[in-house]
Amino acid sequence: MPTTTGMKGGGYYDANSKAQRAAMEPFLPWLEASIERLPAPSQGQDCYRFLDIGSSEGANAVFAIKRLIRALRRVSSLPIQVGFDDLPSNDFNRLFLNLFPQGRLELAAEEIYACAVAGTAFGRLVPAGSLQLATTFNAIGFLNEKPKADLPNFILPMAPGPHAPRRGVDVTDQDLIPFRTQAASDLKAFYTARAAELVSGGQLLVQVFGRRGELSTSHGIYDVLSDALLDAVEQGRLPQVVYEQLLFPIYFRSLEELLAPLQPGAEHEDCFEVLQAEAQEVVVPFNQQWELDGDVNAWARQYTGFMRAFTEAILAAALPENLPQAEILEWIYERIEQRLMATPERYPFHYISIGALMKRL
Ligand SMILES: C[S@@+](CC[C@H](N)C(=O)[O-])C[C@H]1O[C@@H](n2cnc3c(N)ncnc32)[C@H](O)[C@@H]1O
Repeated sequence: MPTTTGMKGGGYYDANSKAQRAAMEPFLPWLEASIERLPAPSQGQDCYRFLDIGSSEGANAVFAIKRLIRALRRVSSLPIQVGFDDLPSNDFNRLFLNLFPQGRLELAAEEIYACAVAGTAFGRLVPAGSLQLATTFNAIGFLNEKPKADLPNFILPMAPGPHAPRRGVDVTDQDLIPFRTQAASDLKAFYTARAAELVSGGQLLVQVFGRRGELSTSHGIYDVLSDALLDAVEQGRLPQVVYEQLLFPIYFRSLEELLAPLQPGAEHEDCFEVLQAEAQEVVVPFNQQWELDGDVNAWARQYTGFMRAFTEAILAAALPENLPQAEILEWIYERIEQRLMATPERYPFHYISIGALMKRL
C-alpha cells in the first residue's frame, strides 16, 4: 500500500509548486533533444504512447508534456496518447480541468489523446511493451511502504538539517537503514515496471528531489515542521506520542542511489542505457524573490504554502480524531510561517534536483 495520501487538492498544489516546476525544467531539454530518436510505433499501433507518473493536479505535468509533444511534432504527426498517472487519492478532477481548460483538450497539437491512470509508480501501470516514453517528476521519493521501524525523535527518515539543532531531535545512521532499504527496493520495482512497459529504444526521464553532498532538499522544510510540531507539544496542543509516531514516508536520494540499479553487475544493467544524468541545485523562485526584494514575510508565506501543499495531507491523517484537527493544522502552518519570518537562517532551503535520461535496451 502506497504510504502517501497525496497533495493538498482543489488547486492548492498547482498554485504552490513553482519550485517543483523549476526542479523539472533543467531536465526537459535533454528529452526535447533526444525525443526524435524514439522508436516509431509498430504497424498496427500507429500511435505514440507517453506516460507521466505522479502527475498530481497536473499544472506542472501538463506543462512538461506539452513541451515534449511540441518536440515530437517536429518529426512526426502521428497521434499521441498521453497517460497521466497518480495514486487513487489524487485530485483527478483538477487534473482534467488542467487538460480541458476551455472544455476541450489543450495539449499543444492535433491528434493528442489524454487519459488518466491510477496506480503506484512502483508497480505496473500499462500493458507490456506499450510505451515509447515515460516521465516522472518530483514523485518517486515517496516510499511505497512504511517499514516497520520507529523514528520517535524526528519526523522524516533523513538526518535533520544542520542549522536547526533542537534537544531531543536526532536520527542515527542505524535508524535510517530500514528506510534506505525500502527506498532501494522501491527503485528496483520502479525500474522493473518501466522496463516491462517501454518498448526497446523507448526513453525514460526520471527526475526527483534529492540530496548532493551536505545539501538535501529535505533540510529546512522538515526542520521547521518538526519545530512547529514540538512547539505544539510543549504548549499542550498535541500529545507527544503524535510527534513520536508521525513519519513523512519520503526518502531523498543521491544521484548515485538513483543510478545504482543500472550499474554493471546490478539487477537492471541490461535494461537501460543511461544517456545523461546529473544532480543540480535549482533556483527556487521564492528564494530568488527574497534576494531581489528582501521581503522576508513574503518569503515565509510562499515557503509555507510550498511545503503545506505536500505535507498537509500526511499530517492531517496522523492527527487523532478526538482533537480539533482543522484548528491544529491552521495553528501549525501559522507557527511555521512565524518561525520562518523570525529565524530564516535556521531553515535555509536548497532544492537539489536529481535526474537521469535513459533508453530501454
Ligand atoms: C510533489 S507531487 C509532483 C507532481 C508533479 N509531477 C510535479 O512535478 O509538480 C508528487 C506526486 O506523486 C504522487 N505519488 C506519490 N507516491 C506515488 C506512487 N507510489 N505512485 C504514483 N504517484 C505517487 C503524489 O500523489 C503526488 O501527486
